[in-house]
Order: sequence, then structure tokens, then C-alpha cells
Amino acid sequence: MQACQVKLQKFKVVFFGVGVIGSMLAKTIMEEKKDWLEIVGAVDIDEKKIGLDLGKMIGSSRYGVTIQKEIEEAIRQTKADVILHTTSSYFEKTFFELKRLAESGIDILSSCEELSYPYATNRKLSEELDLIAKKNEVSILATGINPGFVMDVLPIVLTSPCISISKINVRRQMNAANRRIPFQKKIGAGLSEQEFKAAIRSKTISGHVGLLQSISMLANSLGWSLDDIQIEEPEPMILNKDVKSDWIRVPAGKVTGSKQNAYGLVRGKKIIDYEFRAYIGAEEEFDQVDIEGIPKVSFKSNPCVNGDYGTIAMLINMIPKVIDAPPGLLTMKDLELPSAANIKIPF
Ligand SMILES: NC(=O)c1ccc[n+]([C@@H]2O[C@H](COP(=O)([O-])OP(=O)(O)OC[C@H]3O[C@@H](n4cnc5c(N)ncnc54)[C@H](OP(=O)(O)O)[C@@H]3O)[C@@H](O)[C@H]2O)c1
Repeated sequence: MQACQVKLQKFKVVFFGVGVIGSMLAKTIMEEKKDWLEIVGAVDIDEKKIGLDLGKMIGSSRYGVTIQKEIEEAIRQTKADVILHTTSSYFEKTFFELKRLAESGIDILSSCEELSYPYATNRKLSEELDLIAKKNEVSILATGINPGFVMDVLPIVLTSPCISISKINVRRQMNAANRRIPFQKKIGAGLSEQEFKAAIRSKTISGHVGLLQSISMLANSLGWSLDDIQIEEPEPMILNKDVKSDWIRVPAGKVTGSKQNAYGLVRGKKIIDYEFRAYIGAEEEFDQVDIEGIPKVSFKSNPCVNGDYGTIAMLINMIPKVIDAPPGLLTMKDLELPSAANIKIPF
């Protein structure tokens, strides 16, 4: 009889940022018994978390890893194989912390949206980080559900059977009540229309971050040189009924979330057309990709992939691939085909 259990290589991980996503990641590794992963350190900037046991902090049992202030303290005793970086959405804001992490000589997997395709916002800093990564023999990759999968990797893979393509349409719609609180906040849930517009202008809230990165990654994969990428300002989604999540009740007439459109243009024509909608009370949830070409390709996942669980899974599943990858600042399109990793057969 053939053995069906492959002996798993064990990887040591250290957390850099133990917010909502970091905590969900830790809980998943501990409670889903991902026994091919061992958490050996954790770092956060929040004074209230420093000194706490990671397991206790996330409401699980004691794990024996204390949350530290500095990465050097967290990796002093055991050198990790990978750092799980979940502190921010912005590349320029995280550049110096990423540089410091890369200099520790440990591979980095991040949930930073702009890092998923950093060349789109700052080519110079991207090239600098790429050089630092290569010098320290470190691979750096940002992933997640979006950017990282549904609006870039998935459409990229779906173009594979096409001989020619004239347009790509990508749509994602979700009920934000099913997402973590920081996400509901950043799409403006509960604000008035004026407060929403002011918060977007002052950058107090961002709406979704990642359409520029997803469109850039898709165009680059196809070898399309776009004349322009237009990212429209997020618009408030307002319903004429009361809706609620576990965190907030939004009365009719107030903002339930946001919608955003973005386009890739060649000679004034929209050849890439994206729409992202996330709001509390959305009745239909879906991810949809329609490729106009030869042959036509249409894909719809209904419901959409849950962004929080999806992001945790992408970060965990990419661990073996980023450890195997060559050094440098990488993007999802540079690595081997993504897949779930080390999934146990349930019988
Ligand atoms: N690509 C995707 O699909 C995807 C999906 C989900 C999330 N994300 C992104 O992932 C990031 C994390 O999400 P989240 O919901 O977990 O956010 P969060 O709850 O705000 O967590 C961030 C954590 O990192 C800490 N932190 C900030 N700067 C730090 C530093 N320099 N050193 C150490 N710790 C630091 C924060 O502490 P303080 O609270 O004290 O600042 C907080 O505990 C966000 O930017 C989010 O947008 C991306």
C-alpha cells in the first residue's frame, strides 16, 4: 500500500505586527494545528501588547512566545525562516522597517497592499529594496486576498488559454459585515456622506488600497504597456434601509462602505476595467472576471472569497514558496503557481 502522508518540513515564523490580521494568523497556526509551522517570536509597537504571551494575547492558551518591542529581541534565541509582516498598507511608510527586517537575513512575507506591486508607487525605492534583499539573500513578497489573489493572480491565470484579448473586466463585491473592524472603518462605514468625502480627502480613511497594484501586475504579466492607469476616488455606498454588522449599526442614509472603479487605458480605450464594492448590507457577494478575447473566458465565484480568512490563508500557504524563491523583491507573478500548502487529507 502506498503511504499518503508526506513528511513535512517545519518552518519557524516570527510575527512583525500583531494586530487583527497578525492575531488571526497566530490563532490559525495554533488552533488549526498547522504543525509544519512554529511561531518563535512576535513583535508589535503597541506598548499594551509588549511583554504579553502571544497565545494569551489572542485569547488562546499560553504559547510560550512573549511579544517584544524589537525584532532583534524576538529572533535572538531562534533564527526564524520567515517574518510575517502585517503592520501597514503603504510601501513608503514601511520602507525603513522592511529594510531593517531584510538586513536580519530572514525572508519576509507581508500583507502590505502597496508592497504587492511596489513598482507602481515608487520604482526607485523598489529597486533599492530589491538590492538590499539580494545583498542579504532574502526574498520579500507581499500577498493577501486583494491585492494578492482575486483581482490580480486570478485574472492573470485566467488569461492563460487566450490567443488574443481585447478587454479584461474584473469585479469584486462583498458584504463588509463579514470583514474585520479595521476594514469596516477604512471603507467609511457609519459616516455621513460629507464626513466620508472629508475623510477620503484628508486620508483619514483610504477605502480599498490595491487597485493600482493589481492593474499594474496584470498589465505587466500580459506585456501590455498602458498609456495610463486611472484610479477613481472611492465613492460612498448609501442604502435606503438600516443595516448592521457585529461592530456597527448603520441607519438608512449613512455610509455603509465604498465603491471604487479603476481603468487601464491604451489610446484612450479602457482595456482593463475594475470595480470594487465593499459595504455592509450587500446582498450579493461575488468575484467576477470576464475576458473579451479568443476564446472568451468568464469566471464567477459566488460568494466572493472572504478577504480576512483568504488573506490569512495566502500568507500561510505562500510560506514554503517564498522560502524556496530566489532572493529579491518579488511579486506574486514571479513565483511558482500558488496553491494551498500542506493541507491534510481529512480522513
Ligand atoms: N492584501 C490584502 O488582501 C490584505 C488583507 C488584509 C489586511 N491587509 C493589510 O494588512 C495590514 C494589517 O491589517 P490589520 O487589520 O491587522 O491592521 P491592524 O489591526 O492595524 O494591525 C497592525 C498592527 O501592527 C502594529 N504596528 C504598526 N506599526 C508597527 C511597527 N513599526 N512595528 C511593529 N508593529 C507595528 C500595530 O500597532 P498599533 O495598533 O499600535 O499601531 C498593530 O498592532 C493592513 O495594512 C491591512 O490593510 C491586506
